[in-house]
Amino acid sequence: MSKKPVRVAVTGAAGQIGYALLFRIASGEMLGKDQPVILQLLEIPDEKAQNALKGVIMELEDCAFPLLAGVEAHSDPMSAFKDTDYALLVGSRPRGPGMERAELLAVNGAIFTTQGKALNAVASRNVKVLVVGNPANTNAYIAMKSAPDLPRKNFTAMLRLDHNRAASQLAAKTGKPVASIEKLAVWGNHSPTMYADYRNATIDGQSVKALINDEQWNRETFLPTVGKRGAAIIAARGLSSAASAANAAIDHMRDWALGTNGKWVTMGIPSNGEYGIPKDVMFGYPVTCEGGEYKIVEGITIDEFSQECINKTLKELTDEQDGVKHLL
Ligand code: NAD
Ligand code: LMR
Repeated sequence: MSKKPVRVAVTGAAGQIGYALLFRIASGEMLGKDQPVILQLLEIPDEKAQNALKGVIMELEDCAFPLLAGVEAHSDPMSAFKDTDYALLVGSRPRGPGMERAELLAVNGAIFTTQGKALNAVASRNVKVLVVGNPANTNAYIAMKSAPDLPRKNFTAMLRLDHNRAASQLAAKTGKPVASIEKLAVWGNHSPTMYADYRNATIDGQSVKALINDEQWNRETFLPTVGKRGAAIIAARGLSSAASAANAAIDHMRDWALGTNGKWVTMGIPSNGEYGIPKDVMFGYPVTCEGGEYKIVEGITIDEFSQECINKTLKELTDEQDGVKHLL
């Protein structure tokens, strides 16, 4: 017997990431090839955005996806999030050349108060929320704080793009297949302060750190390359990453919903004090997922350099939190 459709809300559905995301969700790449979906798409009420959304919906229809059980266009989060099981909060302004993501808080922060409240009011009580819109960690924090009737653990921020970028750099450095890299972690904020950590990573059981054996490369090449990859893409493309961001959103939600088989992935999640991070800070942690729940990988040794990196990214996140108090 076929499964009952689940409801997937996507905001910013007519934007660049939306265009790279929706067709893959509708084809079953996110929730499985046996899981029908109803897409609940949100765009701003502006006529141009709503028209663009209509065009995207026409294209979705023209794909005749067997798993697409319905598509809805919305301009109000209260209807877009009704009974939704999954919410991908993409809609918000991207940065341009020379900007830092934190500078977007002033323009984007308020979106997540409104949307957090709407999720609180109308979404499924088990909704899984992924915030992609930047600055993703603090926007996810705002949404979580604006939804006091939903479990805190339902709110997450996207660090999977950073995780995937780090894995790809390590594959290139070692000459090994990217899929063979295990136990990689990206701690903290989706910003240049993130700490991409391969100290525990392995390839076919061998230590990646030992294989590379070059701490200078770690500190002077790897960390800045991963940390500033978003800016490098904006400089090259004139637009922020879209296909790779959509791909990371699919990876994040698929792994959360369907499990990681013990493999470590990185998710931005609200801390419960793990690794000394204060409660509620939306922090990138290594996790494994099973049965629709994520679990932080515990017992990782944090050396002095790693602790310094973690402290730096934490300080940035607590400063961002202080800066949005007026929205909560
Ligand atoms: P885009 O400008 O192409 O599209 C954004 C869309 O969101 C637009 O269509 C806009 O009309 C819509 N929108 C704006 N406010 C909205 C609201 N309140 N409700 C619903 N829709 C709204 O931008 P994009 O390239 O798709 O990027 C979207 C966001 O994702 C940006 O903030 C970008 O910085 C961020 N991003 C995050 C990551 C990450 O790793 N976390 C990666 C890439 C991009
Ligand atoms: C990215 O990392 O590519 C995105 O967050 C977009 C950006 O502004 O860097």
